[in-house]
Amino acid sequence: MIYELSNPVTKTLVTHLRDQRRDAIRFRHTVAELTKQLVYEALKDFPLIPKEIVAWQGDGTFSTIDEENIVVVTVLRAGMPMLDSVMELLPNAVAGFLGMKRDETTHKSQLFYDRLPDCKDKIILLVDPMVATGGSMCDALELIKAREPSRIITLNIIGSPEGLAVVSSTHPDVDTYISQIDEKLDDNKYIIPGLGDAGDRAYNTPE
Ligand code: PRP
Ligand code: URA
Repeated sequence: MIYELSNPVTKTLVTHLRDQRRDAIRFRHTVAELTKQLVYEALKDFPLIPKEIVAWQGDGTFSTIDEENIVVVTVLRAGMPMLDSVMELLPNAVAGFLGMKRDETTHKSQLFYDRLPDCKDKIILLVDPMVATGGSMCDALELIKAREPSRIITLNIIGSPEGLAVVSSTHPDVDTYISQIDEKLDDNKYIIPGLGDAGDRAYNTPE
């Protein structure tokens, strides 16, 4: 299932991201805000469990998402602001890291770092702002599925129709929540209109 957010605030923030005058710190802040919207939407039907806490009138039992059962996996580098944002909302979730770099000639992603925690029977939130060819998402999903999670949800900011079709046909059991589906890929496999290289935009490393 692919779910594209339709909220006008989402579309406004995506337009801010496309603006090349948006500097790195504001770019990361905007990515973080968009990520929070995706989390609210993706988790809106999640069950609540009772949790005992020390409240101001003494011990009490209150409702919460089972945060400890959630693993947030980010794809370096551009996924970092998304991870931080999810962890602000779900501070007791567990974080995992995949380092991937797309080869700009072959357009295939290459794994250079794998720091996935125990994913068995966990719910995975896989975060990466860009789904271009879909290669990085598919590789990440394959690595995660090998650790036997119970469910995987991807949170993405911008995707191409081509890349999203590859991800959903290769992994039909995965749910994708995305802020914006754009028009197409260009000859260099960049998303059009897109926003350029999200990692470079977030971390001041122009090509
Ligand atoms: C970007 C982006 C995705 C990937 C998408 O990362 O964050 O991981 O490209 O492209 P694909 O769908 O064609 O695989 P990139 O490899 O540029 O690394 P970076 O985050 O370090 O810039
Ligand atoms: N990676 C990005 O950051 N942007 C694109 O448009 C394609 C891949």
